[in-house]
Amino acid sequence: MDYLKAKGIKSLSGEIEISGAKNASLPLIAMTILAKNRVDIKNLPDVADIKTLLKLLSNLGASCNYELAGTTVDTSTINHTKATYDIVKTMRASILVLGPLLTRFGHCEVSLPGGCAIGQRPVDLHLKALEQMGAKIEIKSGYIEATAPNGLKGCEIIFDKITVTGTANIVMAAALAHGKTTITNAAREPEVVQLCEILNANGVKIDGIGTAILTIHGTSGKLLNISEFKVIPDRIEAGTYLCAGAITKSELTITKVEPKHLNSVLAKLEEMGCSFTITDSTITIHPTKTIKPVKIVTQEYPAFPTDMQAQFLALATQANGVSIIEERLFENRFMHVSELQRMGADISLNGNTATVNGKSKLSGTDVMATDLRASSALVLAGLIANGETNIHRIYHLDRGYDKLEQKLKQVGAKIERLEE
Ligand code: EPZ
Repeated sequence: MDYLKAKGIKSLSGEIEISGAKNASLPLIAMTILAKNRVDIKNLPDVADIKTLLKLLSNLGASCNYELAGTTVDTSTINHTKATYDIVKTMRASILVLGPLLTRFGHCEVSLPGGCAIGQRPVDLHLKALEQMGAKIEIKSGYIEATAPNGLKGCEIIFDKITVTGTANIVMAAALAHGKTTITNAAREPEVVQLCEILNANGVKIDGIGTAILTIHGTSGKLLNISEFKVIPDRIEAGTYLCAGAITKSELTITKVEPKHLNSVLAKLEEMGCSFTITDSTITIHPTKTIKPVKIVTQEYPAFPTDMQAQFLALATQANGVSIIEERLFENRFMHVSELQRMGADISLNGNTATVNGKSKLSGTDVMATDLRASSALVLAGLIANGETNIHRIYHLDRGYDKLEQKLKQVGAKIERLEE
């Protein structure tokens, strides 16, 4: 198993190029199930979760050809519709094939994803919506067995909670359904917006894109001809590197980014004393010598993203004063706290709220990654801790960060990947 060894450094400088968004890529790969043609996808990130979903599609009989220059997916050769536990257990976003498989083939079996480190993460809202669209859903020995022999029927869906992959799943199910589907309380994340924009550009009329009320006009089973598209930049990767600039008090420029997707993250960094030079595809962070404490509440887009909570918690350990960070989306997304405490951070937890007393002097030690974003928080801490920090179980990191240590090394970080 690999681990990362990071040494506390003075500062970083230079440019970091942002890769395609993991959380846009996953629904877009699942969307190819709706196509009759071979689909060309540009700018997929080189991360494990993408490979996992492509493997899942290949296991169903699709032909997937992943290359850095571009990936092609042809789902016309899919010959069965059972997404098995061995793959789904490694990546819960596999649930994204449920809607497309059901709406195209009229039946599918998808392993229940189970929870993950950050929370129980049920899929009840996905299933309830599909039942409202006429599907028969049964849970049998850990599998979701879904059937809709006459296809799905458009209807009015109201999500009790905003769900990102739930919205994506139902948008894709509705794409081939009979009639119109309205989703109220839809997720507005940029990744959901891109999915809707691409479907809308390829034969599925969708109204309300980017709002909380989506109306999808189904094609009544007619498969789509999806032209080549390019995945949007990863706003969470971008936010992570901005935090690297802030925590090491370095001026860094991130390129190939979409600044408007980062408004709530930039606003919080400004509150902490940073400033920015922004163009239409780059952001340069001008760090502050004295980081100010901050109050953060994680909520759905366009509010502050839960996927940036761990990174900001690491940054808050270096602020002069008390920061309060409240996690509202997941019930167990503070596992990075105990590892940061072992490095010397002064953090107290009370339910879903962390109180961070900065500024703490962090010392390098062995720490363990527990989930994707917690891993990046530990890397950020390792960049400024005294001595060396060894971050173990970085398979979590490799799920969602494309060449992280290379990107940090090229701006001066002392970080390397070693074998345990
Ligand atoms: C997506 O997960 C992202 N993953 C997560 O990113 C992200 O943290 C999350 O959205 C919130 O922004 C992908 O896009 C692949 P949700 P998702 O359904 O869709 C509850 C990362 O680090 N809920 O929006 O699974 C749920 O428990 C990952 O890249 C139900 O109760 O999240 C949570 O409390 C981590 N029933 C809340 O809604 C359901 O049927 C939001 O979950 C579905 C969700």
